[in-house]
Amino acid sequence: MLRMLTSGESHGPKIAGILDGMPAGLKIDMDYLRGFMARRRGGYGRGKRMSVETDEPVFSGGVHDGFTTGAPIMVELSNRADNPTPGERYVPRPGHADYVGYIKYGLKDLNIVAERASARETAIRTLLGAICSLALRELNIEVFAFTRSIGKVSLNRRYWEIENLLGKRDNSVLYCPDEETTQLMIREIEDAKAKGDSLGGSFTVVAKNVPPGLGSYVQWDRRLDAALGFSLLSIPSVKAVEIGEAIEGSRLFGSEFHDRFVVEDGVLKRSSNNAGGIEGGVSNGEDIVLTAYLKPIPSSFAINSSIDLVSLKEAPLPYVRSDTVVVPAASVVGEAMVSFTILCFLLEKFGGDEFTEIKERVEVWRRKLLR
Ligand SMILES: Cc1cc2nc3c(=O)[nH]c(=O)nc-3n(C[C@H](O)[C@H](O)[C@H](O)COP(=O)(O)O)c2cc1C
Repeated sequence: MLRMLTSGESHGPKIAGILDGMPAGLKIDMDYLRGFMARRRGGYGRGKRMSVETDEPVFSGGVHDGFTTGAPIMVELSNRADNPTPGERYVPRPGHADYVGYIKYGLKDLNIVAERASARETAIRTLLGAICSLALRELNIEVFAFTRSIGKVSLNRRYWEIENLLGKRDNSVLYCPDEETTQLMIREIEDAKAKGDSLGGSFTVVAKNVPPGLGSYVQWDRRLDAALGFSLLSIPSVKAVEIGEAIEGSRLFGSEFHDRFVVEDGVLKRSSNNAGGIEGGVSNGEDIVLTAYLKPIPSSFAINSSIDLVSLKEAPLPYVRSDTVVVPAASVVGEAMVSFTILCFLLEKFGGDEFTEIKERVEVWRRKLLR
């Protein structure tokens, strides 16, 4: 069983993560991990903090001579940014965790609530998920994400119709694989910035070459679709997850939506992938496609007053240093979380303590399916 735990605060000395259950023998490619972390720090519309952090992974358990040992992986990232809001704060930002942290944990100073509720925590989760992504790549499974919409501007092309999607995504400051849409999105962000406001949007995660048979319909908590939804909904700001073309599908007839079986050159295939690669809670061998929708982030100049929780009077809301839009960064967190969840289900099905063992089992399964 693969498990992930994180600890640490936004402006503490460091944030740390433990990944328990990773098999032995996986090569830790530091350049790959650094590249993954750099993508999370990037994206047009982010605040100043991301230019301060370096996110250099420091391993202190579970890795020897560059390979995993099977022991729990312990890894840390140091925090370089100083706290921009010194002193105590009693005025909660609507939409942030300030009020619920005050109620639930009795933390009177809302800056203390924000220390753990802050999305800085997603940096260490991204790193742990990037390690899972390395493991999936060893099994020829590729997981990638891209920005689908920012505010009211949406990419209106299907991902499989876009040639060199990853090249185009990586050339876009918003991780959107279409230049024209990127420019429109930048304008949307500039408009929001000029008003001191924030934006939400959506990103899509695709997992290719996932073996069929991961997950199960025999018990509710073994469904792959439910687990993937959970993993994306655990990202702060993500408030809805769509699997395949579910939203459009909800407006169609069944005969228009469902992916027909066809046989091409003696091989069983599907005529479309509206289901997003999962039927009955089980991967069906098609691309797994998930789209996560984010609300606009809570901190902005545009909401400049709230209620002081001590005096219960209207009070100015001190501005907390913030991004304008976080969809590109969140897409990288999404890629990491989906990688983690798919690896969990893969290890559940194929087991194994050492990587070559797992590789062999996956290959045997794939060969069997081709027969
Ligand atoms: C990568 C990332 C960065 C974020 N940065 C900010 C930020 O700078 N300011 C802000 O108010 N919210 C930011 N958020 C969103 C808040 O963390 C989130 O709204 C808050 O924790 C409340 O959780 P909820 O939105 O899930 O209810 C960010 C989210 C993500 C995924």
